[in-house]
Amino acid sequence: MTAKDFLTIDDFDIEDRTILVRVDLNSPMDPEGGILDDMRIHSHIPTLRDLEDAKVVLLAHQSRPGKNDFSTMEAHSRIMSGYLGRKVTYIDDIFGTYARSSISEMKKGDVILLENVRFYSEESLKRPVDEQQRTHMVRQLSPLFDIFLNDAFAVSHRSQLSIVGFTGLLPSGAGRLMEREITALNKSLQGNECPCIFVLGGAKVDDSIKVAENVLSSGGADRVLVTGVVANVMLAASGVDIGEPNMKFIESQGYLDQIDRAKEVLEKFEGKIGLPRDAALNDNGTRIDVKIEEVASKNLPINDIGLETIVAYSSEIENAKTVVLNGPAGVAELDGFEIGTFEIIKAAANSGYSIAGGGHITAEVRNIGYEEQFSHISTGGGACIDFLAGDELPGIEALKVAAKRYQETE
Ligand code: 3PG
Repeated sequence: MTAKDFLTIDDFDIEDRTILVRVDLNSPMDPEGGILDDMRIHSHIPTLRDLEDAKVVLLAHQSRPGKNDFSTMEAHSRIMSGYLGRKVTYIDDIFGTYARSSISEMKKGDVILLENVRFYSEESLKRPVDEQQRTHMVRQLSPLFDIFLNDAFAVSHRSQLSIVGFTGLLPSGAGRLMEREITALNKSLQGNECPCIFVLGGAKVDDSIKVAENVLSSGGADRVLVTGVVANVMLAASGVDIGEPNMKFIESQGYLDQIDRAKEVLEKFEGKIGLPRDAALNDNGTRIDVKIEEVASKNLPINDIGLETIVAYSSEIENAKTVVLNGPAGVAELDGFEIGTFEIIKAAANSGYSIAGGGHITAEVRNIGYEEQFSHISTGGGACIDFLAGDELPGIEALKVAAKRYQETE
């Protein structure tokens, strides 16, 4: 796929037009609501600069319902205003009277950030695209706009309302970030050399298991190494007793059902998925490395992969020609439990071609100053690995359909 398959800002006359831009500002947040890493916010600035002569309304999400960091977009608007050097007005409404009247009163150069679109329950319902177009949000908002731009590469693997609902009704194209991601990831696919290893960590267990299966089935990866919560689920699936605190954590995240799923994938790809041999347990803040068979007896939470695993994984990663990192190896924000994540990042930087995707791991790449040493740092987590696994991303597919329709009618 090339950037020519869809329209971009260059294809539209944007002067004084009212433009709805779906952005992905989903950022790691601390319990007090502070944004820990603003890379995603910053990454949309080129798009906003190119829309200076328009009236721009941003639609975005933060986290998922039920999670601790499921919050309003107020903090995001403040940070964005700082980067843009112009006010980004936060409106605590998505498509109600307040939002619609604020949009109607906009002047050229104004930028509005609407409320977290996932506060609206229909956003996350999976439905055919033509049904998405008939929902309240799309019917209320679309008459107010001339153009829709999708700049939210990082959530374009979701067929959600704000991603695919407007493209059938409004002239639609990609923002600058979307263009940049597609170009860079396409380049990496073309040069993708073997052995290719995907290192899947973090806490989005369902996504990681799906990707492991996809990339191993398609031949997109020769091997998958697992870390983070996904490793714990895989260990449990392989028959290891990971102890009560770790099982409870999996349950609290709603991932108990993923254990059976992980079992199927482990059986299907025997020998292709690397599991941790040891783990770092958190004993009141102190790191204790133990063999995987000893984890259960200690009754403590696993907060990182163990040192033996770090050494084994690092040597495999360094010798690979292509490495894709997704999700941290442990609770990297806790002192002593960042070692796995840092060492995996360093090893990946020494491999042939390195890509990191996802908010948390890319924040750690920048934390240790390894940004320049990576071939590509993607703003996408799940979207990046789905793209590299060869999946069609609904958000990008919707832009392609919109481009065809636009070209036929122009
Ligand atoms: C991400 O952080 O990967 C994107 O913002 C998508 O978020 P989601 O996995 O909650 O849909």
